[in-house]
Amino acid sequence: MSDTQDISATHLPDSKPGVSRRDFLSEITIGALGIAGLGGTALIYQYFSPNVLFEPSTTFRAGNPDLFPVNSVTFLQDQQVYIVRSLTGFYAVSAVCTHLGCVTQWKPEANRIACPCHGSKFQPDGKKIEGPAPRPLPHYSITLTADGELLVDKLQTIKADQVLKV
Ligand code: FES
Repeated sequence: MSDTQDISATHLPDSKPGVSRRDFLSEITIGALGIAGLGGTALIYQYFSPNVLFEPSTTFRAGNPDLFPVNSVTFLQDQQVYIVRSLTGFYAVSAVCTHLGCVTQWKPEANRIACPCHGSKFQPDGKKIEGPAPRPLPHYSITLTADGELLVDKLQTIKADQVLKV
């Protein structure tokens, strides 16, 4: 009898202050609910926010016409467009090859636009000279803004014989 009293006395819980099992489970539950609430809030925010794809503008200012010498081809790398100034005026030609979409390069020594991928070649006005490209390089709408800068709209293709006279 006295042996059992001794044993149970040695296994009594400490009287030190600490976190009880109940408090621990409460905190775990509150934490889990908080995380679930944040996740739910994020899903609701995503559901109600507009499902819009933000793409760069298709219209851009190419600058003052005086920046482009007569009989010049200027490659605008960020827009992948050639601004061509001929004796008759301006036109904007796409630099994207009509074969498989490679970006072409202006070769002033040969006076032509060349595609590095499969060898298509084009005149400065975009007409195809040779290679697998099925079509000429398209011309984009080019106009003047009210303050006198060239404005190119890559969403509007125009006929190759339309030239902006400045
Ligand atoms: S992508 Fe230009 S020739 Fe093939």
